[in-house]
Amino acid sequence: MSRIPTTLKSRIMSAEQAALLITPGMTIGMSGFTLVGYPKAIPAALAASGHATDLTLCTGASVGDDMDGVLARAGIVKRRYSYQSNKSMRTKINEGSMGYIDMHLSHVPTFINRRAGGIHVDVAVIECAAITEDGLIPAASVGASDAFVRMADKVIVELNETIPLDIIGMHDIFEIGVPPNARPIPITHPLDRVGTNYIPCPPEKIAAIIVTDVHDQYPAFIEPNEVSRVIGGHIIKFLQQEVSAGRLPENLAPLQSGVGGVANAVLQAFAEGGFRNLTMYTETFQDSALDLLDQGIIAGATTCAVSFSEAAGKRFYGNLAAYREKMILRSQELSNHAEVIRRLGLVSMNTPIEVDIYGHVNSTHIAGSSVMNGIGGSGDFARNAALNIFATESIGKGGAISCIVPMVSHVDHTEHDTQIIVTEQGVADLRWKTPRERAELLIENCASPDYKPMLRAYVEQAHKTAKGQHTPHDLKQALSWHQRFLETGSMK
Ligand code: COA
Repeated sequence: MSRIPTTLKSRIMSAEQAALLITPGMTIGMSGFTLVGYPKAIPAALAASGHATDLTLCTGASVGDDMDGVLARAGIVKRRYSYQSNKSMRTKINEGSMGYIDMHLSHVPTFINRRAGGIHVDVAVIECAAITEDGLIPAASVGASDAFVRMADKVIVELNETIPLDIIGMHDIFEIGVPPNARPIPITHPLDRVGTNYIPCPPEKIAAIIVTDVHDQYPAFIEPNEVSRVIGGHIIKFLQQEVSAGRLPENLAPLQSGVGGVANAVLQAFAEGGFRNLTMYTETFQDSALDLLDQGIIAGATTCAVSFSEAAGKRFYGNLAAYREKMILRSQELSNHAEVIRRLGLVSMNTPIEVDIYGHVNSTHIAGSSVMNGIGGSGDFARNAALNIFATESIGKGGAISCIVPMVSHVDHTEHDTQIIVTEQGVADLRWKTPRERAELLIENCASPDYKPMLRAYVEQAHKTAKGQHTPHDLKQALSWHQRFLETGSMK
């Protein structure tokens, strides 16, 4: 099969020519989600020419260094929307030379579709496996591409010939529409197909096509360490207890698992849990999820993107036809949609940076002011999942940091959204607990023994000094651990 209809072949051009369609000050929506399916040729051409400055760049989520890194180092991006995880971009953001707006991932396409706040996408740049008469076949991520294509004035397609055409049929694109005329989403099982296998795109909107052959950069595989394995073991035991108590069915509920080394290790632990016929309704699908799918522990999954190491990636791309039967790639508007997350009653598992004694969670900022990556979908899932779990090591940086602190230095998930906190020390089930009960559980079950005495002393002092005894804090000391870390390199 050809990757492009004959009628569109005249629009093939070089990346340098196509990049000229982008002019200074434009808002560009680019494909890409958790390092997969992002354009590579246009970012390189924009960086090399430098003609299009002051760009506003919006993506589904994180992309590779050959996009975010290249654009950040070229200094042509003024504002960046939603999740990123690139070192060069993070540096620019934290030194104050680039604006970054961290958003719930489900909001990105919704805001674009509604032109909320006056946002308008001038050009969409989308990596695709193929173009058909009806539209675009994305690569192995959908992200917010459907919204970008729908709302942009022009579309530039990067047609990547390294993506096997067997990917056709793996996507499921469904247009929800805009309130008050938004449609209900008829998904009642993670493997329900409800839309088309392409992103609808009128041919006249396609302004340029660039043929490429550069594969996504594979993220490094992080071998789970012993601590992450222990965390995974606690989560499995907790879920088994929920099943025994009749609060979850034997095959649980569709799982959502977040990004990073801890999340990957936690999912790996499911290989030992004795669970079968699990499903996933998630936004990213890492190596350990593919292993579970191959072992038959996971029967099927919806995801917004795959994010594999080189070895797992080769397995996936080499067997796409088989995986197509068990996996669906959807846009983040669907994968992270409150309606579906609530209907399916997800079990959601994400990684925080730190948690405070009352259960507020910081997922994004170091010491209150330096952004790490972004909130991603953790807020979409935490607020709407039937059961949410935040799992982290109890300490960071070799013990210089306690991940259980008196007060978080930045709040992403409030006490109202957090349920189960897990560290290698144990589990704190915060459901139906008062703030003071939460503090006791978090300190006794989750904090590192090295920090327990300090946390107990803080609580005692807070009880003595706080005017209100509902959620006692000693406001003079609440953030002193972070201040000490900044001044001395340690919270101790
Ligand atoms: N204070 C300071 N630094 C901390 C910290 C803390 N309390 N906790 C972790 N860190 C640092 C680590 O030291 C490490 O830094 P390094 O890269 O310099 O070594 C870094 O944060 C990442 O920590 P790591 O233990 O490797 O965790 P991870 O790979 O599991 O990622 C998050 C953790 C929080 C960065 C990641 O899960 C994330 O971005 N989460 C927010 C988005 C999200 O949850 N999305 C879910 C839906 S996909």
